[in-house]
Amino acid sequence: MNQRLLLGVDISTTGAKALLIDQEGRVVSSATTPLTLQTPQPLWSEQDPQEWWKSAVESIRQVIEAADIDPADIAAIGLTGQMHGLVMLDNSGRVLRPAILWNDQRTAAQCDQIRTRVGKQRLIQVTGNDALTGFTAPKILWVRDHEPDVYSQVRHILLPKDYIRYRLTGEYAVDRAGGSGTILFDLKKRTWSPEILAALEIPAEWLPATFEGPEITGQVSQQAASETGLVPGTPVVGGAGDQAAQAVGVGAVEPGIIALTLGTSGVVFAPTESALIEPEGRLHAFCHAIPGRWHFMGVMLSAAGSLQWHRDTIAPELSFDELVAEAVEISPGSEGLLFLPYLTGERTPYPDPFARGAWIGLTIRHRRAHLTRAVLEGVAFGLKDSFGLIKNAGLGAVDQVRVSGGGAKSPLWKQILADVLDVELVTVNTTEGAAFGAALLAGVGAGIFTDVQEACSQAIDITGKTSPGEAVRAYRDFYPQYQELYPVLADQFKAIAAAGLPFDAGVESA
Ligand code: XUL
Repeated sequence: MNQRLLLGVDISTTGAKALLIDQEGRVVSSATTPLTLQTPQPLWSEQDPQEWWKSAVESIRQVIEAADIDPADIAAIGLTGQMHGLVMLDNSGRVLRPAILWNDQRTAAQCDQIRTRVGKQRLIQVTGNDALTGFTAPKILWVRDHEPDVYSQVRHILLPKDYIRYRLTGEYAVDRAGGSGTILFDLKKRTWSPEILAALEIPAEWLPATFEGPEITGQVSQQAASETGLVPGTPVVGGAGDQAAQAVGVGAVEPGIIALTLGTSGVVFAPTESALIEPEGRLHAFCHAIPGRWHFMGVMLSAAGSLQWHRDTIAPELSFDELVAEAVEISPGSEGLLFLPYLTGERTPYPDPFARGAWIGLTIRHRRAHLTRAVLEGVAFGLKDSFGLIKNAGLGAVDQVRVSGGGAKSPLWKQILADVLDVELVTVNTTEGAAFGAALLAGVGAGIFTDVQEACSQAIDITGKTSPGEAVRAYRDFYPQYQELYPVLADQFKAIAAAGLPFDAGVESA
């Protein structure tokens, strides 16, 4: 029997997930093994790559067992995972230190070093991005500056998902969506930039070969097969960083179709036909998981995270539905109340770890329902900032926004978003996120689908629509007020943050 199943493996920050789907995109089985996170110092965020592997093995074994299938029916495997994390290996493939993750903030000085060595404008021109503490390149320089003993043993640099690839296949390889998130890529050429590597004095031979998302990068080895229960020789495709894989998983593969993920953070992901850049580097510009496609990305750090904080702090006794239901009665604009969603600093459009949250415009008339509505509206306004940058950077028309994540369950929030963004929002049938996108990429690599677009149109259906309504005008008038607040408050936020910090954070960019 040959059922032609596809396996997606996602190494997120919180868990190693394995997802088995069939070639129609139906979920066959899914398992997630939790991962631990270490913060050995303020601003640091690390994980043990060996734990990723152990947890991935556990989840792969579980999905095979739960689905009760012959692992020979798995046609191919796609990998995805948290972006930007730094894994350093020695000559024999041994892990040299814990991985430094995407949300680690220790590298402000190294970001400055990169801007000085390359020149900020040149860096944006070549890589599409400014140097942010989350990205991989500054982490490499941090290890060189602070751990010379470790640095002298480095022979291979990998991203989190690519360590799993190495353990599965023995190959050192990276997908181009993930690779561009290192800011060591020439964005247009979709591979390592000799110019940036030379300026930063990072040896090119440490970096893995680069592949498109659906390309086959190697086969499951005998050793990995005996650990996971997979069949030796099963192909492993490039896959993608979690954001590009998530976009594939909801079908955001054509320019004009934007993926909006309302998780703890809020991500606006816009596919582009060429390597467009935002001239000041205020948007991320990376390779998409699709050959010959790129994307812009705006990241709001506290999107559904703002609502979660609001509920936990103001009304822990209520469910989200109960709390949000109160806000339905409040008119658009919350009677002159604005919320700034910078509860954990911000990335887009303000790369500022010192940005802070606020309700502004409070009067004695405002009740909890107003505060709630203002939170929903403030997050929508913050996301509109990313849409504005994307439009001005040359994307053209936005035809449709595909919304997913926990926040997308709220009809009121979807209506507010459709009204604030003045665009049709749709939901889709696929809810398995990045692992689903990775499995579709595997399907293309295995020849089950001709290309990623075909894979998406076969597996993904639209399940709901929210159209802009009467409130569009009210929000169009109110949005400029929101936009004016951060620039006015930025210096105050910095002073307030400094006054409240128990240590000298020394962070200049998020
Ligand atoms: C993307 C980013 C996060 C991580 C963790 O730029 O930093 O989405 O990939 O999920």
